[in-house]
Amino acid sequence: MNINNKPEDVVFQPATRISSIGVSEILKIGAKAQALKREGRPVIILGAGEPDFDTPDHIKEAAWKAMQAGQTKYTALDGTPELKAAIRDKFSRENGVDYALDEITVATGAKQILFNAMMATLDPGDEVIIPTPYWTSYSDIVQIAEANPVLIACNAEAGFRLQAAQLEAAITPKTRWVILNSPSNPSGAGYRAEDYRPLLDVLMKHPQVWLLVDDMYEHIVYDGFEFVTPAALEPRLKNRILTVNGVSKAYAMTGWRIGYAGGPRDLIKAMAVVQSQATSCPSSISQAASVAALNGPQDFLVERKASFQRRRDLVVAGLNAIDGLDCRVPEGAFYTFSGCAGVLGKTTPSGKRLETDTDFCAYLLEDANVAVVPGSAFGLSPFFRISYASAESELREALTRIADACARLA
Ligand SMILES: Cc1ncc(COP(=O)(O)O)c(C=O)c1O
Repeated sequence: MNINNKPEDVVFQPATRISSIGVSEILKIGAKAQALKREGRPVIILGAGEPDFDTPDHIKEAAWKAMQAGQTKYTALDGTPELKAAIRDKFSRENGVDYALDEITVATGAKQILFNAMMATLDPGDEVIIPTPYWTSYSDIVQIAEANPVLIACNAEAGFRLQAAQLEAAITPKTRWVILNSPSNPSGAGYRAEDYRPLLDVLMKHPQVWLLVDDMYEHIVYDGFEFVTPAALEPRLKNRILTVNGVSKAYAMTGWRIGYAGGPRDLIKAMAVVQSQATSCPSSISQAASVAALNGPQDFLVERKASFQRRRDLVVAGLNAIDGLDCRVPEGAFYTFSGCAGVLGKTTPSGKRLETDTDFCAYLLEDANVAVVPGSAFGLSPFFRISYASAESELREALTRIADACARLA
């Protein structure tokens, strides 16, 4: 018997379900930008998917009090009764949707909510419709669940929003879910009631198709945009809608890892089965903090939104002043998704021809010390995403550098 176990004899064999999923482009660019920074290059990174504000003090205090009160043990599997009650009240107060406590689930971030939902419902060969540009985790999670993402391009002219005819054409007997995200990461596009209506009418005709809506950026909307969620707009569909939300973006709590959802009881129960073998429960301390976030004062959200809006206006105006770039005004979130078709085909000072948005972003990083993410990472080219959750001074400097870099192209 050969009992050799030399390093060269050991071949790591990943599971098929993850073999087609690479490390995300966003992480790769982030790692490269950080490496350049460590070398001493003055890189400005506009890639972060999190608010630059701190978690408000009253929320931190609630966490501290929970620890002092001994709330440091496992909790109920998919959320404490206190947090579920706060979520029920939030859905009712802010969204006009009534969920019972057993129609609510809490997880370690909205990402885990999505993961639980897909793992609990998808079989190999099932299809999930995802409009692009999309938050990359949607398709990766669907693939980990061994189902097939069906990506539908939604261009800038359509406001980066899925159209009813596209949805109708994409539905097959294998379609299990449609995932919609408003306001969107990466495009910032928001669906108004009149944008949702034709899509919900299509879904009414296809009872096997469920709708997952990701409302993560609901509180970060501009110019009086009226946020709506489909379960409120079409109560007849509520029994096949999963309404996903979380405290990460609204309350600047990305590191606390709490996401939640409201949905039909049977789905919520099945999601708990997945969660029970993944994490047992979300962090007890973070759940206590989230109760304070949802039940506490909400006035600071307005100030923070105004601050984001100033930065959105600065970045959109700066980008549109640059020859070759074309940026739609986003309704929400803290991202711009700008077209860069006008710079493709041009040549950099070092003689490289820019063929794709990935080339353009590599050029910006190398020559202008600005890290942004190409549209290809989000399934739609030629675009690039800027996260403007950074200081205004940094944004101004980045815009100047991008403008100079574009002016140097021939
Ligand atoms: C659209 C969208 N949904 C969900 C999430 C995940 O949030 P969480 O921190 O709750 O996992 C993100 C985070 O970037 C996001 O952009």
